Amino acid sequence: MAKERWPVLVTRRLPQPAMDRIAERCDITLHEGEAAMPRDRLLAEVKGKVGAVTLLTDKVDNPFLDAAGSQLVIVANYAVGFDNIDVEACTRRGVMCSNTPEVLTETTADTAWALIMAAARRIAEGDRFLRSQKGWVWGPMMMLGQDVHHKTIGILGFGRIGQALARRARGFGMKVIYHDVYRPPRDVEQELGAEYREFDDFLAEADFISIHVNLTPETRHLMNAERLRQMKPTAVLVNTSRGPVIDEAALAKALREGVIFSAGLDVFEKEPEVHPDLLELDNVVVIPHLGSATVDTRIAMGMLAAENLIAGLEGRRPPTILKPEVWEEKQRGKA
Ligand code: DGY
Repeated sequence: MAKERWPVLVTRRLPQPAMDRIAERCDITLHEGEAAMPRDRLLAEVKGKVGAVTLLTDKVDNPFLDAAGSQLVIVANYAVGFDNIDVEACTRRGVMCSNTPEVLTETTADTAWALIMAAARRIAEGDRFLRSQKGWVWGPMMMLGQDVHHKTIGILGFGRIGQALARRARGFGMKVIYHDVYRPPRDVEQELGAEYREFDDFLAEADFISIHVNLTPETRHLMNAERLRQMKPTAVLVNTSRGPVIDEAALAKALREGVIFSAGLDVFEKEPEVHPDLLELDNVVVIPHLGSATVDTRIAMGMLAAENLIAGLEGRRPPTILKPEVWEEKQRGKA
């Protein structure tokens, strides 16, 4: 007997292996093109679907869930971050949600490292300078940056990606300090040679601060004007988590006034917009949310999202479900 096929929505084309895996079991409604799915289309197309693969540009909230209907079983987010999803609203309605952790940890830590190096050593600025074809000659004071090796790195948010960054920093002989509301087990601290600091001490001591927290009401504008002033004037700030963790206007002012040395940003407060003041400055490196953007990692994210989707529809536990109790409740309902 032919296996049941499920109607699902995929809000943007994923790497082909993931599309193929989903197509094995599902009839896909796909939003083609490079732009995010417009909200009205999203609400229209999710109607009647049992599953949806969403991106960080798709808001999964009560109107989305109302539009989908009560047959919706699972929302599989193609990202580790899930601030686009109202997980509580999904849970109340018995809709499972999943994300794509772990498969992108090392790649995102690599991106943070690239931004640290670029912002400290003025790499993007140097590239722009040469392309401008202004005359130049090597000079003792030309484009001086900050050393990275043997300095102190402060990791804000010491989860998987923060810890992966700590490993890289150890290779550069750096002292590693961190701040987080959750303390990892002592053996993790010991293995990484990482020392916990209260927030004020953390800000004052670090030569580099790299942000790896989730976006929550508590972390929105965590790095504001006052906290930026607590950093060293030679310090570099890097963000590969979510844009609203930094008050972008305050950061632009701090960079312009030399409150800190430089910044490297992969994410923005009002993505895809970048604060216009930042674009005027040479001491900030900006890239368009490329944290997990490698061929292998995007395939791995797609395969994990596909596996979450199909497991949820088949009644198996999605491997990286956000609230396992929703699945457990469904199992109890079946018994
Ligand atoms: C995520 O996964 O949350 C990133 O921002 C996209 O890779």
